[in-house]
Amino acid sequence: MPNISERAIEMPQSPIRKLAPLANAAAARGVKVYHLNIGQPDLHTPEQGLEALRHLERPILEYSPSQGLESYRKKLVDYYHSYNIQLTPDDIIITSGGSEAVLFAFLSCLNPGDEIIVPEPAYANYMAFAIAAGACIRTIPTTIEEGFALPAIEKFEALINEHTRALLICNPNNPTGYLYTREEMNQIRDLVQKHDLFLFSDEVYREFIYADTPYISACHLEGIEQNVVLIDSVSKRYSECGIRIGALITKNEAVHTAVMKFCQARLSPPLLGQIVAEASIDTPQSYMQEMYEEYVERRNCLIEGLNRIPGVYSPVPMGAFYTMARLPIDDAERFCAWCLSDFDYEGETIMMAPAAGFYTTPGAGRNEVRIAYVLKKEDLQRALFVLNKALDAYPGRIR
Ligand SMILES: Cc1ncc(COP(=O)(O)O)c(C=O)c1O
Repeated sequence: MPNISERAIEMPQSPIRKLAPLANAAAARGVKVYHLNIGQPDLHTPEQGLEALRHLERPILEYSPSQGLESYRKKLVDYYHSYNIQLTPDDIIITSGGSEAVLFAFLSCLNPGDEIIVPEPAYANYMAFAIAAGACIRTIPTTIEEGFALPAIEKFEALINEHTRALLICNPNNPTGYLYTREEMNQIRDLVQKHDLFLFSDEVYREFIYADTPYISACHLEGIEQNVVLIDSVSKRYSECGIRIGALITKNEAVHTAVMKFCQARLSPPLLGQIVAEASIDTPQSYMQEMYEEYVERRNCLIEGLNRIPGVYSPVPMGAFYTMARLPIDDAERFCAWCLSDFDYEGETIMMAPAAGFYTTPGAGRNEVRIAYVLKKEDLQRALFVLNKALDAYPGRIR
């Protein structure tokens, strides 16, 4: 039998989906599972997007241009303008989700063996896409004690060598919920400029910012316009994960040309998704405000509830819809699996993402889990209650 590739062997399993078979088995036993593990918003997609789909009148569902529909890219210019990001339609390349934007950014900017510096914990698929591109992720630890703030810039400097080609940030951050301050963003800018690195900035959660501090996009940073590659997606902001629409934004012509070659090879981003995403730009402010308030309430409910459980600690996330919580347990992977296979409280249990999968440093995040607050408040409250019971019953609890 022929062997699979070394690359495929190296590809990590998603830490989020890894426990799915155990969750399925729990559900098959009739146990209700509260899914705190996945970043799939539960709110309704805006009517504008759904209407566009209902009234689709096209004789042919054809390929769209490889760069994406021009009408959509034009409308996106106004959307970004509302965040003080000044673009032309040509700066925007529509991709199949933010996921493809990350992959194409890596494939276009990095040679095999090139290194990307990423603060960890980090969105796990960055590691997977780096492997796909033959690039190497070098992580800088951030800690729960410091609320996952950006580490001293000297720590970045210490990692930079002749293979370093890029810095990657996620802002607001998945999995930590951290939002970089203006000062931190300026430090990042200076570092990128000094070493002439690419700055990949994943800003798919910009609608989910709860702090008073302003949102500083990588595109707001002056002097590194040629270095910035912005990763974006409509998955989260319009609850449209399934339409698979994202964007890669660059003002660097060479990068643009390179990315377009990958885009041409895959022919077209999803046509129907673009139609929905384009219509969704007209989502009324009232929907966005309601969504925002809902997430603020959920965040408060979750974080207060977590910090009330003896031995549990969670910093207050400033953005996105996740938090990293430290639990009084021996091993989060074991605990999360145990919750699904060995435990239920009155027929209910919880599914969380063990944090180790978001770190590359061995042993890091061993007693941490990532919890997504994409359930309604009553369910979150019940899930917190069940978590408390699970911690009480878990044999590996540290007292
Ligand atoms: C930080 C981050 N970037 C990118 C993505 C990719 O999203 P999509 O491919 O659905 O646009 C996600 C999805 O969870 C994410 O959390």
